[in-house]
Formats: sequence, structure tokens, C-alpha cells
Amino acid sequence: MTTTTTAHTNIALIKYWGKKDPQLHLPYTDSLSLTLDGYSTTTTTQFLPGRQDQVQVNGHPASPAFFQRVVNFLDLVRQVNHSQKGILVQTTNQVPTAAGLASSASGFAALAGSLNRLFQMNLTPTQLSCLARRGSGSASRSIFGGFVRWQHGTGDFDSYALPIDEHPQLPLTLLSVVFNGQAKKVSSTQGMEQAVQTSPFYPQWPQIVERDLDEMLLAIQKQDIAEIGQLAESNCLAMHALNWTARPFFTYFTAETWQLINLLPIWRQRGVLVYATVDAGPNVKLITNQETLPVVRKLVQSKFPQAQLTTLYPGPGLT
Ligand code: DP6
Repeated sequence: MTTTTTAHTNIALIKYWGKKDPQLHLPYTDSLSLTLDGYSTTTTTQFLPGRQDQVQVNGHPASPAFFQRVVNFLDLVRQVNHSQKGILVQTTNQVPTAAGLASSASGFAALAGSLNRLFQMNLTPTQLSCLARRGSGSASRSIFGGFVRWQHGTGDFDSYALPIDEHPQLPLTLLSVVFNGQAKKVSSTQGMEQAVQTSPFYPQWPQIVERDLDEMLLAIQKQDIAEIGQLAESNCLAMHALNWTARPFFTYFTAETWQLINLLPIWRQRGVLVYATVDAGPNVKLITNQETLPVVRKLVQSKFPQAQLTTLYPGPGLT
């Protein structure tokens, strides 16, 4: 038997940055994301005759580090199911891996979904979200479509994501600006650990998130894209400030990231609706609406002719 599942990546509008339990991926704070239609991962799993696992990514054997991460996840699922069978995992990414486009989110959500079918576990979406979280925190949110909130919870069984609005009707549009598809140097796991342990501002972070999250929920309710963008940008910069103030400091921004971010207030002064969010990589996701998208595209193209631009809309949960 083979089972196939597709999951879409999500972009955090209120970021997850810091774990109180690194083993279980239990975050210090809630976070809020939008699942996207463009970047996805499709994963097929099947049992192998022996005990050895095999992991293929886009038709090639996985790197040793990724293989180990997947095997750890398989071990977890085998343990729950009292199984020792080897598993073949074949995964196809429509996401530039490790370019700050959250491929681990769609990857572990798709893997959790596929294993749920393979082992016939019949998990509810909430339980699936908990399981996906064990692979990668942000994967907990990719189980659902649209706007999703991951509640931090108190333990393994109540730290899961819930949909806020699975089919948003507002004309929110994202433009992904990829300067550099190469792998980041500091993984998000490492980066958040360093920020938690050493940034003198980390104790402020839970309060910032709580406030931003409340305001974001209101902005979503009002379908106010400018307010959503403003809050997402501000929350993102607060997250990156934790990294700049870590000891030693580190950053995911490159000169191009900064160059684009610095242009935004100038464009906004000219009346263009555009805000930015950046994850654990140099690339930028611009937040705008359907009507303004052509203007934003032109502006970005004129300044960054080499950048790869992709338009993204709200997308579905696991299929
Ligand atoms: C900046 O979910 O990749 O994208 O739980 O260690 O796998 P692990 O981290 P991961 O971190 C995502 C961080 C972020 C913000 C976010 O998606 O909320």
C-alpha cells in the first residue's frame, strides 16, 4: 500500500520564535499564519520489506541531516503504532528548500498526513497538527488552510493549531521575492535557541506576541489588509531584532533584504499598499492586495531585476 498527501506551506504573520521544550517543539507563544496556495510538498509513504528506512527528496536520496530528522519522526510514529517496519518516504517539494520559505512546514505536515493513512491511525485534524508539530513547529499550522492559530498549550497534547478562517474572502495577496535560493547558515531550530538563551530582549517577546496577536485577530475580522500588513511587518522585525541582539548576534537578512525593507516606507508614502515579512532566510514576502499587486511587482522588478517573483494567495489545508 502507498499513501500520498499534499500540504502547503504557511507564512507566519505573527511569528513562532522560541521553544520552551525543544524536544516536543512546545513554543513559548502562540503564532498565527496564512497557508499559501503556491508552495507545496507531496509525500508518498509505503512499508519496505526490512527495517531500514529510505528517504528521497525530489527523486534524490535525502542529505544525512534531513534523513535523520525524518527517521526520528518515523520512529515516533512507529513507537505509537508498535511497529518496526522500514518505510520508504518519497517527497516532492514545490518549495526552494531552506530559503526561508518554510519547506519544513509543508514537509512535515505532508509526512504526518501520509503516515496517518499508512498506519490507518484515523487522527483528527487536531491530533494531526500535534503530530506534525513534532517534526517541525510550523508544520502544525499547515494542516489547515487560510488563517491559522497555533496555540502554544501546556504539553504535547494541547499544543496544536486551529483554523481561524479556512476560506478567507479578502483580496490579500503575497508576492514572494527570492533573492537567493541557497540554504541558510543558521537553521531556525538553532537560531531560535540562540535568541532564547542570549537575547536580553527575549523576555519581552511573549508580551509583544500577545499584543500583536490580539490586534491581528481584529484586523482579520475587519478584513483590513493594511492593518494586517503593518502588524505582520512589525512582528517580523521584532523577531529579527531578537537575533540581532543575541550574543553572538546573527541575522538572516542580506544586503538585498535590507534594501527592499528600506524601500517600503518610501513606496507607502506614495500611497502603495505594501508591507513585508521575512522568515529564517534572506527572502521577503510582500503583503498587498490584488489591485495593488501589479504596481508592487513593477516596483520590485525595477529595483531587483534578478529576483524571482511569485504571487501567492491563501491556500488549502492537507489534501
Ligand atoms: C521564522 O518551524 O522551521 O518561520 O520547529 O525548529 O522546525 P522548528 O522550526 P520552524 O520555525 C519557523 C520559524 C519561522 C516563524 C514561523 O513560521 O512562525
